[in-house]
Amino acid sequence: MKAVVWSGVNKLSVENVDEPKILNARDAIVKVTRTAACGSDLHLLAGYIPTMRAGDVIGHEFIGEIVEVGSAVTERKVGDRVVVAPFLSCGNCFYCERGEFSLCDNTDPNPDIPEALWGAAPGGCLGYSHALGGWAGSHAEYIRVPHADVGTFVIPDGVTDDRAVFASDAAPTGWMGADLGGVKPGDVVAVWGAGAVGQMAARASILLGAERVIVIDRFANRLKQATDIIGAEAIDYTQTSVLAELREMTGGRGPDVCIEAVGMEAHSARPDFGYDMVKQQLRMQTGRPTAVREAIMACRKGGSVFVLGVFGGFVDKFPLGAVMNKGLTLRGAQVHGPRYIPMLLERMQRGELVTEHLATHVMPLDKAPRGYDLFKNKNEDCVRPVFIP
Ligand SMILES: NC(=O)c1ccc[n+]([C@@H]2O[C@H](COP(=O)([O-])OP(=O)(O)OC[C@H]3O[C@@H](n4cnc5c(N)ncnc54)[C@H](O)[C@@H]3O)[C@@H](O)[C@H]2O)c1
Ligand SMILES: [Zn+2]
Ligand SMILES: [Zn+2]
Repeated sequence: MKAVVWSGVNKLSVENVDEPKILNARDAIVKVTRTAACGSDLHLLAGYIPTMRAGDVIGHEFIGEIVEVGSAVTERKVGDRVVVAPFLSCGNCFYCERGEFSLCDNTDPNPDIPEALWGAAPGGCLGYSHALGGWAGSHAEYIRVPHADVGTFVIPDGVTDDRAVFASDAAPTGWMGADLGGVKPGDVVAVWGAGAVGQMAARASILLGAERVIVIDRFANRLKQATDIIGAEAIDYTQTSVLAELREMTGGRGPDVCIEAVGMEAHSARPDFGYDMVKQQLRMQTGRPTAVREAIMACRKGGSVFVLGVFGGFVDKFPLGAVMNKGLTLRGAQVHGPRYIPMLLERMQRGELVTEHLATHVMPLDKAPRGYDLFKNKNEDCVRPVFIP
């Protein structure tokens, strides 16, 4: 079958690979019908995620049709149209039982590297390096989905493919930022990044009752989506001082909740950008925490900062003093898909959550290298390319 494989830093190719088979009674085989590229895949592509091997099939945000189930799968059947959670969850461990599905103890067969880097391994993720399990990804005609009863969800009638595909990753990730970031009715929320994840965090904040939601980016097309479709306000960080602007918008206090949806390849219009780039290229830090720093500085005293953007290891010039002295709560997480996906599908069905505008480029799987190029460079107003195998 055809699949998109990582073949080195900044190199993707479409190749023929073996079709997946049921290997465990809890597996399902899913025929992929839509698979989107995520900002996290850009970090893979750029070589910032260790333990990728040439030939690894990437992709983790997708929907499809179940074509085969293992003998222990009881909740899904052949023919079901499903959205699939990127992180794999057993459903039975300490973490899964707490709803912290991406922290599952039983889905990363290669925990050594994450244990050395982070002190413990989170769960495994489809198509996202050997450190996170070495599971083949979704940019393929078929994919094996372990623990299918836990990580697949039937898409309700009336939710189109182009809407449902974002119930896999972008929408639950954004919702998690607002939920675990503690957004309450009346809050002011600032979101860094107007990509699919940032827009979904903004929409979640609005649906959770935030009074004002402000999205920060530099791309006009993305900020326009955030205002016109999501219902947020926008700041272009190249045109103004974000800190001054946010203070102005909040009566001098700062946002109650700050959500970072940018990650380790942040851009900046400020002089510290060169410093961060050099340190990252020399591997003296593994990510550029530009937006995390700004979120921490902007946040009101006693507020909370939630890091949705992916970071791999260690960063420099981290304003720990601000976290401590301002009494901030700082959290982050990989997406706990099963905790949010059923609720998000219902909201999609009711029309409260629209996502199809994020799919700016829908193309055949063969064209994935071009789609990634557009997405990486944000050319042609690309927000997310979506591939049809
Ligand atoms: N926590 C999770 O489970 C999870 C899930 C999905 C994605 N992610 C991560 O979320 C991040 C965003 O993903 P995406 O798909 O929306 O990516 P994206 O590349 O489409 O969007 C990132 C946006 O951040 C903007 N940006 C860059 N520097 C900025 C700055 N200093 N201030 C404000 N905005 C800035 C960019 O212009 C871009 O629009 C990535 O790091 C991705 O890896 C995390
Ligand atoms: Zn993702
Ligand atoms: Zn588990």
